[in-house]
Amino acid sequence: MYVCICNAVTDRAIRQAAESGHSFVELSRATGCSDCCGNCEELAREIFDTAAARALDLPLLPMAA
Ligand code: FES
Repeated sequence: MYVCICNAVTDRAIRQAAESGHSFVELSRATGCSDCCGNCEELAREIFDTAAARALDLPLLPMAA
């Protein structure tokens, strides 16, 4: 599914970036994700952080409100 509508960035692309060891900033620079209106940033970061934690086999912590 598209997470960033402005730049057509999918959840799959976000997970792949995280699993490849890239930072969120690198993802954003490469794809434009969260660089335009910013409406996608919260969901994109949640997907990114979850994928990165799984890739590192870290426990998943609940998001702060
Ligand atoms: S929806 Fe991602 S920057 Fe606008």
